[in-house]
Amino acid sequence: MRTRIGIVGAGPAGLMLSHLLHRAGIESIVVEARSRQYCEARIRAGLIEQWAADMLVETGVGARMQRESMVHDGIHMAFGGALHRIDFHKLVGKRVTIYGQQEVVKDLIAQRLADGGQILFEASDVALHGIDGRNPKITFTHEGRAQEIDCDFIGGCDGFHGVCRPSIPDGVLTTYDREYPFGWLGILAKTTPVADELIYAYHPRGFALFSMRGPTLVRYYLQCAPDENLDLWPDEKIWDELETRLGGTRPLPRGPLVEKIIAPMRSFVAEPMQHGRLFLAGDSAHIVPPTGAKGMNLAFADVRVLSRALAEFYRSGASDLLESYSQTCLRRVWKAQRFSWWMTRLFHQFPDETPFDKKRQVAELDYLASSEVAATSLAENYVGLPVE
Ligand code: DHB
Repeated sequence: MRTRIGIVGAGPAGLMLSHLLHRAGIESIVVEARSRQYCEARIRAGLIEQWAADMLVETGVGARMQRESMVHDGIHMAFGGALHRIDFHKLVGKRVTIYGQQEVVKDLIAQRLADGGQILFEASDVALHGIDGRNPKITFTHEGRAQEIDCDFIGGCDGFHGVCRPSIPDGVLTTYDREYPFGWLGILAKTTPVADELIYAYHPRGFALFSMRGPTLVRYYLQCAPDENLDLWPDEKIWDELETRLGGTRPLPRGPLVEKIIAPMRSFVAEPMQHGRLFLAGDSAHIVPPTGAKGMNLAFADVRVLSRALAEFYRSGASDLLESYSQTCLRRVWKAQRFSWWMTRLFHQFPDETPFDKKRQVAELDYLASSEVAATSLAENYVGLPVE
């Protein structure tokens, strides 16, 4: 097979890259190790920055999101037994869209297929070749047959554990890594939302977050041990703990759980995000802890830069945007890293904290709740910094 851009990974990064390239008249093929069903069911965060929601609409994949999502003007912070609201729309004139990542994935897959795009699911033994030269190649097994894709460039969109980043020769990448001494226990439950907007809670027993997916589907998270045993968390215990940490000011509407997971927390960046003709995008290049839900938004920002650079290359032959791809993306990546780390630091209990640290943490929450200047910085980052 031959195409212009070979893309590894059918998550938000790979699918959006393929979609944006198609709109620029550039052909691509997506290769994915998992099944379509797996990709469409993989539950992640559900918060879309305003520019990213606009991009989905402007590029023709936002119709269902517009019908089914919820648009939020702000968030609540819970601490000291009270709720404090931060009004993004008042502070920075922007909003966020609440819509599950897997719904975006479903919409992108449907659109790519409707546009005649090729997504090869359940490809095994995916390997990259010749990324240092002008004719890179992706090899894999698909439907029992050995296959090859010859291409001009490769989009490495296969996530943190994928094969693309390790295909870059030793010594090229510098990595920055930070693990956190806790995880998140996440649940999805069939019941009504307890509030009209998300609640981020600081509590001496640990962080908790209320989020939602629709009028009868809610998402909650609890700070837990990184290796927490889910067997020790029967449903009633989860509800009790959520109720305590979210302030105890009102009972939570309870309902049957449809999912229970442990999410790891790490910050990771690999630099540069490009080597030869391989361009890394999304989680293959960087991971943020989930607080603030920047993961998919960062992936979209990467592929927006990449698709424009490729479009310019095919239009004029100029490669300067491709050469500056990594630098352009990393400026945003590091600001999102800073924000995600800061939100994580603000709301979680750290095991090595001193009483001084805890007092400082509560003072910072109080500052955010009482100062427009402080709240504006949170709002500006939360709704998404301007895109290039
Ligand atoms: C969700 C997840 C987050 O990490 C967050 O900060 C906000 C919302 C979610 O799953 O809805």
